[in-house]
Amino acid sequence: MKIFLDTAEVDKIKRFAALGVVDGVTTNPTIILKSGRKQKEVIREICKIVDGPVSVEGVEGKAEGMVKDGEEYASWAKNVVVKVPMTEEGLKAVRILAKKGIKTNVTLVFSPAQALLVAKAGAYIVSPFLGRLDDVGEEGMELVRQTVAIYKSYGYKTSVLAASIRSPLHVVQAALAGADISTVPADVLEKMYRHPFTDAGIRKFKDDWESAKKIK
Ligand code: E4P
Repeated sequence: MKIFLDTAEVDKIKRFAALGVVDGVTTNPTIILKSGRKQKEVIREICKIVDGPVSVEGVEGKAEGMVKDGEEYASWAKNVVVKVPMTEEGLKAVRILAKKGIKTNVTLVFSPAQALLVAKAGAYIVSPFLGRLDDVGEEGMELVRQTVAIYKSYGYKTSVLAASIRSPLHVVQAALAGADISTVPADVLEKMYRHPFTDAGIRKFKDDWESAKKIK
């Protein structure tokens, strides 16, 4: 499974890219706001750090506006993927952008019926939102499982990206469900490699190493 970083904070992207575990990046207007930077400037910088897909999202409601914005975003770097919302206008934009050779990521997907339409429209990526479903008492992971099953049955090429991830367990469950990608906030990625037993094991080996040096 590919791992994308769900952030526009360049220092964090550089830090985790150095580990060789970052296959792409996703952003949205909230994530751009958190970065405290101008969208175009920060996206261009991210695209230089990461070779894989970098999702960029606008707020246009009409297909015409989404296509215009999408063409602009796609001109910023060759690895830009244009995010469009899961609406009738969004699906229309997916089709038009696909014909122009521009890849799309359909966001704010909350049902398998929506996911089916996203694949039929020809999107490059579908983003089912796990955490936000969990937040309202639904099982977000079930949406990922059903989306993966539908796409597999019919051979749809659209990649399933588990979004709105809140924990390492979400990432593991998304991998087990067969998601192609999980997009992970930086704090969750950090929690993925940390384990108290690893830290305790390192401390014990170090102590024993020091004690072993004293053996005559
Ligand atoms: C990524 O593409 C999504 O916009 C993001 O994962 C949403 O996460 P949130 O539900 O934590 O805001």
